[in-house]
Amino acid sequence: MGKKVTVVGAGFYGSTTAQRLAEYDVFDTVVITDIIEGKPAGIALDLNQSRPVEGFETKVVGVTTGRNGEGYEGIEGSDVVVITAGLPRKPGMSRMDLLETNAKIVRQVAENVAKYAPNAVVIVVSNPLDEMTALAQIATQFPRNRVLGQAGMLDTARFTNFVAEALEVPVKSVRTLTLGSHGDTMVPVPSKSTVDGKPLREVMPAEQIEDLVVRTRNGGAEVVALLKTGSAYYAPSAAAARMAKAVAEDSGEVMPVCAWVDGEYGISGVYLGVEAAIGAEGVKRVVETDLDADELASLKEAAEAVRAKQADIANM
Ligand code: LAC
Repeated sequence: MGKKVTVVGAGFYGSTTAQRLAEYDVFDTVVITDIIEGKPAGIALDLNQSRPVEGFETKVVGVTTGRNGEGYEGIEGSDVVVITAGLPRKPGMSRMDLLETNAKIVRQVAENVAKYAPNAVVIVVSNPLDEMTALAQIATQFPRNRVLGQAGMLDTARFTNFVAEALEVPVKSVRTLTLGSHGDTMVPVPSKSTVDGKPLREVMPAEQIEDLVVRTRNGGAEVVALLKTGSAYYAPSAAAARMAKAVAEDSGEVMPVCAWVDGEYGISGVYLGVEAAIGAEGVKRVVETDLDADELASLKEAAEAVRAKQADIANM
């Protein structure tokens, strides 16, 4: 049977995610929803009219949803649901400033997803990311492997891009890794980063690596400060769409994602940015990698920071 993916939220993040998913041409249907009357239908109409030019057959369907679940029958049968609903940051805000506002929105969306798409894999991108992913699992009551968050792919892509630009090499010759939270306790991992297979630390001075680590950690805020309204969406949607594709194709691809950690790295009972194999059931398994002692300590610190906040969200 053909695959169906739903993107909740027709802002820039949601609409660019829907576009990428449609252009992959691997889904039968891409549903995009929003609470703004007409907006998802308009985006769907526009995207469908790009099909002859871009050469894809996927059909895009726009659905307006109501606060009480009206319209959600349109997501029935979705294999994957990407939740982008919620407010983006304004300049000067931290992702954590969105916690209470977005918790209300994400909880309501997640409850409707559980009702109408009970077998879906849920990919959360709303901020603060690690907390909203945990909340979506609580609100859906889905098995933890079926709820994951997008952040590590994005943070890793930013780190890779910065390294490639600094060394003036193709992005494809650079590999980096970013673990931890999608926030202040993000853990870029230089020990696992390479350029043409050589350790990053052999081709770049430590000070410059540290500058790029800091820039990666502030990568989202740097874009917000320039855009003035809204936050990044091209790189974020690229990352989210790849995750949804990995689920649809049951690819088993190993990606940095926000996943439930249960013993890996000596950390348990928390949603955290780690590498994981992604497939039809969501997270197939968390993949542990060797970290330097300081990187491992930072990852544990990130876990405790996220754990403290995740305890609060159960009541939001
Ligand atoms: C970012 C937001 C989307 O990092 O979290 O750009």
